[in-house]
Amino acid sequence: MTQVPTVTPARLDPLTVAEIAGVVTAIRADPRIGDNPRFWGIALDEALAPAGLEGSPRPVRVVVMNPDAHAAWEVSAWTAPAGGQTGAAVVNGWRDVDARRPGVSSEEARMVAAAARKDPGLIAALAKRGITDVSLVWVDPESITGFEPDDLSDRRLSWGTVWYRESVEDNGYARPVAGLVPIIDLETLEVVRLEDHGVVPMATETGMYSSGTWGPDRTVAPLEIVQPQGPGFSVDGQLVRWQNWSFRIGFTHREGLVLHELSYRDGDVERPVVKRAAVNEMYVPYLDSDPTAYRKNFFDWGEYGAGPLTASLELGCDCLGEIRYFDAAVLDGHGEAKTIANAICLHEEDASILWKHVNTRTGSAEVRRSRRLVISAFATVANYDYGFYWTLYQDGAIELEIKLTGIMSVSGIADGERPRYGRMIAPNVQAPTHQHYFGIRLDMAVDGELNRLVEVHAEAEEDEELNPYGNACKLVETVIGSESVGGRKADPARALHWRIENDHKANRYGDPTAYRLAINNTTGLFARPGSVVERKAPFVSKHLWATPYAAEERFIAGEYPNQAPLGEDGVQAWQQADRPLENSRLVLWPVIGVHHFPRPEQWPIMPVDTISFRLEPDGFFDRNPSLDVPPAEPDGDHCAVPTGAAGDHGHGGHDHDHGHHGH
Ligand code: NI
Repeated sequence: MTQVPTVTPARLDPLTVAEIAGVVTAIRADPRIGDNPRFWGIALDEALAPAGLEGSPRPVRVVVMNPDAHAAWEVSAWTAPAGGQTGAAVVNGWRDVDARRPGVSSEEARMVAAAARKDPGLIAALAKRGITDVSLVWVDPESITGFEPDDLSDRRLSWGTVWYRESVEDNGYARPVAGLVPIIDLETLEVVRLEDHGVVPMATETGMYSSGTWGPDRTVAPLEIVQPQGPGFSVDGQLVRWQNWSFRIGFTHREGLVLHELSYRDGDVERPVVKRAAVNEMYVPYLDSDPTAYRKNFFDWGEYGAGPLTASLELGCDCLGEIRYFDAAVLDGHGEAKTIANAICLHEEDASILWKHVNTRTGSAEVRRSRRLVISAFATVANYDYGFYWTLYQDGAIELEIKLTGIMSVSGIADGERPRYGRMIAPNVQAPTHQHYFGIRLDMAVDGELNRLVEVHAEAEEDEELNPYGNACKLVETVIGSESVGGRKADPARALHWRIENDHKANRYGDPTAYRLAINNTTGLFARPGSVVERKAPFVSKHLWATPYAAEERFIAGEYPNQAPLGEDGVQAWQQADRPLENSRLVLWPVIGVHHFPRPEQWPIMPVDTISFRLEPDGFFDRNPSLDVPPAEPDGDHCAVPTGAAGDHGHGGHDHDHGHHGH
């Protein structure tokens, strides 16, 4: 079932197609954008969005470029009123933006690729490799930030990875055209430089992965998820309620899926936990000095944008059960307002055991199954596919699972050579070592807007009088008081984690109510100090950053990271102000990451690799908040084992007559 678009959006609801189209019409009336304008997204200005009547005009920012004039602007505007009210969108401000800095839209990428395929130099270089049908060649314009040639650095640039397909339906990412690197002017659509590092034999093996390519499919038994009474959640516009949780679903150009106003109903009280949560940036550096690989280091959100890359789940749905979809509206690179049908998936999942105990003295048992609510979206970033699964649990926990799948970005390799900084994954194909970092933004609101951050770790008790047996272990708490200490590192070996506390609210033990944040998926950057990779994304040097809320500090790697001076903007720059963090509107920026040493088993398509982080109540409640979860219905008892079916083990599911056998 597909949601009818909300016609009277509430304050922070996603922009509608009608709102976007109205604003673009108003911008198009201005001659300065020229005859060939390009757009890089529209976003609600959340900080300025007025509370009040639904359907009121809302403030937005639009990035528009005039490539013929080497000019770009951030346009401020108000949407037309919605919900049957009359009036038009109003443009009220143009701010110059460095023409190199807006990110690249998919439409701009396709224009660039089409133009590059007509370049005589590239055509000749492809012919040297035996490729004469240029229509089967892909050129992916990649962000060049930090690697702009000195004599071209005033231009809006891209560099190209080049791929070959044996047919239109072939997997192009399986056949890298090695050695060729076009540098492309995104505005004039010219190949301004072409590096040719020599011919390498093309991959000979197919990279297809459709059913039957590698032999007959295996047999699997049917598995059905049935919810005979429908789902356990309710939806009203963008507002979702599920058991004790409630939140609003948002969506932006830059971040894609956003959750607003996440709160937990505790008895009769709605208790806020997180004001706003989103995956704010990705950084993917490749760690290989090969001439066609060393430039690969991407801000996938800041240099492209998650919203328009969000996959329509009409093109392959990933969830089982009673599903509710939400559409999303985006502005494409040509200025068209478009709907991504079924962009966001909402569904419940069984999640194994919530809690359990068997009383072996009496033979009685209490067990509860865990149910979780999943709000998910997938983004397809050229070769890679990333799933973002925000998951709510019955015990008050919040989890973000990121699923990495799709096709690895590979390089060609000559016969007889071994990859020094990668792995052979097919004949003449190597997958370079690389990393994926995700900068998450959490506007915290544990029991209210003012919170503080406390770091906690385990430490042996050094006082021998207090610790006569040598086993005593302390919990050491450190308040993170200001930004000079606001960048923190995880350390699982010391059980290091963080508490987000409300110092004005106490639980029944007199402790501040709090949530706990633990980050277990981390990696270190192995780039030499001073290198582009090291300077481009300083935020990856820590695993958690804390800042006080500031309206213009929206993105962890800065507002416009494409072709930006390295490290100029972003969380590490804001920290220089050393603002106090205690009792502030605390914004947390967890950075989770994975070091990816490729495996042959991840080719030609990668089984999902999952990384995650969790927020758990930590003195937020007075006891286990899930004691009211009912036992499974008798007819829903999936553990029942028919008599005799347990075989020789003799421990059928309903055998409660066994005695106590000790340990
Ligand atoms: Ni990877």
